[in-house]
Amino acid sequence: MGKDVIVACDFSSAEDTLAFLDKFKGRKPFVKIGMELYYAEGPSIVREIKARGHRIFLDLKLHDIPNTVKKAMRVLSKLDVDITNLHAAGTSSMMKAALEGLTREDGTRPLLIAVTQLTSTDQESMERDLLINEPIDSVVMHYAKTAKSAGLDGVVCSPLEAEKVHGVCGQGFLTVTPGVRFADGETGDQKRVLTPSEAKKIGSDYIVVGRPITAAEDPVLAYERCVREFVD
Ligand code: C5P
Repeated sequence: MGKDVIVACDFSSAEDTLAFLDKFKGRKPFVKIGMELYYAEGPSIVREIKARGHRIFLDLKLHDIPNTVKKAMRVLSKLDVDITNLHAAGTSSMMKAALEGLTREDGTRPLLIAVTQLTSTDQESMERDLLINEPIDSVVMHYAKTAKSAGLDGVVCSPLEAEKVHGVCGQGFLTVTPGVRFADGETGDQKRVLTPSEAKKIGSDYIVVGRPITAAEDPVLAYERCVREFVD
């Protein structure tokens, strides 16, 4: 898989999502389906978008006991998505169980990546609520290393962490990075942002972009600008 822009389709209905994707005509952006859309529409929206020829990152962030996650991943493996994910905080036994569940009988499987610390967690809330007292940066790198040793393919992280993750886990370990904004755009609730071209320089493999594309006056133009800055 090469570098690409993944469009976060944070819509609450199939109707809005498909109307949005129709705007792209012949183009088939890589699509992220998150909890909102999946819980609203179920697996049928994944099948519909796949049938239209898009690659899909199914962002459901699983976190439960290993046996439950394994069985849930077995179900998800039938959906033919390209990437899916879980929380590294579920520990390596959960991650290994997830990989087993995700692997189909013919040995193929979607890529599996781990959320390290959510970008909404900061040092203060991590210490206060999770009783983790290490610097957040070291925690993220530790989770990335644990995910790698469990056999996962990469992590979701801030673009600011991508370079360090590659340093620690190798260039082949995928970094999928949200928190991307155009230099002249609104940042909204994202605190630590980079532009697509900065994310490219720093070595992100995939950028996940939502509102700068979905809320743009012309989403196709905004998408093409992202691709120009990040991929071309
Ligand atoms: O609209 P925006 O570009 O901020 O969307 C970013 C997407 O990436 C959203 O779907 C959000 O849930 C997701 N995400 C994130 N930060 C993380 C993990 C996922 O923004 N740490």
